[in-house]
Amino acid sequence: MIPDDMVEEVRSRADIVDVIGEFVQLKKSGREYKANCPFHEERTPSFYVVPDKGFFKCFGCGKSGDVFAFVMEKQGMDFVEAVKHVAARSGVEVREVRRGAADEDPHRALYEINAFARDWFRKQLLDERVGEGARAYLKSRGVGPEVAERFGLGYAPDEWRALREAAATHGLDEALMLEVGLLGKSEKSAEPYDRFRGRIIFPIEGLSGRVIAFGGRILQGDAKDAPKYLNSPETPIYQKGQNLYGLSWARHAIRKEERALVVEGYMDVVSVAARGFENVVAPLGTALTREQAHLLAKYAPRVLLLFDSDAAGLKATFRAADVLLEEGLHAAVVTLPKGEDPDTVVRKEGPEALRRYMDDALDVLDRKLQILEQKDFFSSIERTRDAVDRLLPTLRAAADPTLRDIYVDKVAKRTGVRRETLEAEMRRTRRRAVAATESAQPHAPQRGAAQTRSGSGAERKLLMMMLRGVEWVERAGELVSTEDFDDLHHRAIFLALLDDPEMRSPPPSMDPVAARRLEEILSDPEELAHGIDVFTKSVNRMRVSALDRRIRGMQELIEAAQTEDEKRGLAREKEKLAQERRELDPPIGRPRHAELDA
Ligand code: UTP
Ligand code: MN
Repeated sequence: MIPDDMVEEVRSRADIVDVIGEFVQLKKSGREYKANCPFHEERTPSFYVVPDKGFFKCFGCGKSGDVFAFVMEKQGMDFVEAVKHVAARSGVEVREVRRGAADEDPHRALYEINAFARDWFRKQLLDERVGEGARAYLKSRGVGPEVAERFGLGYAPDEWRALREAAATHGLDEALMLEVGLLGKSEKSAEPYDRFRGRIIFPIEGLSGRVIAFGGRILQGDAKDAPKYLNSPETPIYQKGQNLYGLSWARHAIRKEERALVVEGYMDVVSVAARGFENVVAPLGTALTREQAHLLAKYAPRVLLLFDSDAAGLKATFRAADVLLEEGLHAAVVTLPKGEDPDTVVRKEGPEALRRYMDDALDVLDRKLQILEQKDFFSSIERTRDAVDRLLPTLRAAADPTLRDIYVDKVAKRTGVRRETLEAEMRRTRRRAVAATESAQPHAPQRGAAQTRSGSGAERKLLMMMLRGVEWVERAGELVSTEDFDDLHHRAIFLALLDDPEMRSPPPSMDPVAARRLEEILSDPEELAHGIDVFTKSVNRMRVSALDRRIRGMQELIEAAQTEDEKRGLAREKEKLAQERRELDPPIGRPRHAELDA
């Protein structure tokens, strides 16, 4: 099958952190990396990856092994498949290893066509005559041959059938060329033609390094009626809301620097990365999606947003920031001079200047406060009231409870509105939005005030049990996460209990409202007979409500989406949640319908 020395070569070249990092969010911890174990449920990480020794181990469930063992276990692959998987990600003789396994990847032919096209575009750029204008254009934008080569840039000549003919000569299937969007077909003429004409080509890679799509920019001075950038359509191997331009090569730097730079476009990525900022990516012609944020969260906890500083750019910045916050990331905003983007800044002022702007980045909430201040929003009571409304979405977006706490505190200080009032407002605004989406969705379960209370009743019951026996803290820690709590004070109590399972009085650091709530729960005389029943019922109810909340949030995002693509991406995300919800509906601990049917 695969010769032993080949297996060894793959093993030694593979970056185990990178391979495993594709499935779990690894955090650096000394010379190791750790994470919540992907093979069993846990809240505190006991899963370790030791890159020096090339193995992983979970001290919780005992699973351990080398990079191949991980892939076999995680993906249910056999050894040969696992070696191929790792080889593909490590740039080891991929083709040779894969040859003869034609039927294993249904999209292999599409990738092959893209690989061919990347090569062909590149050759056109290098061609003395054909690529002359394109090279001159790139040069005028500060991109020399080396940078072009490094990012695999190419050129699509300004002809209707040049690529098509080249592909035909190589025996590539025209139907597949249409399927990957390299060829287009109009209603009138049956003759397919090249989609990209007279454009600089930016190949877009998936995480495995294979080309999944292309972006193309017109040369300056060309057709005024054509869009500046043209992208591949969505295809079986490309969903734009789920990929980031540059991530395939930026991810190592992102992990190393523990933060990602997000810019608006292709040229920004190339220009900035070429000048030494390698942790840079761009969304692909859409507003940043949840899936893209989720992708980034696998590599680093923080994101710097470097968008244009005009009104549109600022709006995009705050939208992106809210999406990042919802994925638990910290978002900071870099303010560039008016009319500049990262590309023009590094070229005109140099990399050190960009570095300085980055050093001045403000946390997204601080940036919002700063803008409100500049616009004189804190000058009167009425304007301050408006300011609070503008700040609430960011407060609500912050999924990280600690960050949220800091945010609420900050806004309370700046506006003079009490924390409790802000927290009530945060919930109230959410309920209003919920009511709106429910009336639009006749089939959604009714959720009146009583249900809201019983949802938080479940949270309270669970905390009560945790306070009465450490064994429940352990179980709850495995089954419930902080986001499952709707009530912020319950969340705080839950976290404190995970820190100290024996806690029987509020620690000094606890928020006073949470502390009062805790004492009240502690003094509640209610008897909880049939502990396990109360426990499972509470956990189940909380998880169902948490999923319902996320589904409604997703619906709000869908309604606010500005493009069809984004809508589709969000709808997919929502369907995933709905599926999870359906699976949970029969309470935990009872067999699912599917299993009964089987
Ligand atoms: P910008 O218009 O800000 O362009 O579009 P840019 O990145 O500064 O490009 P240069 O410097 O003029 O070459 C930002 C991003 O929006 C998408 C592209 O992904 C682009 O990189 N876009 C823009 C399109 O998809 N189509 C367009 O027509 C324009
Ligand atoms: Mn630009």
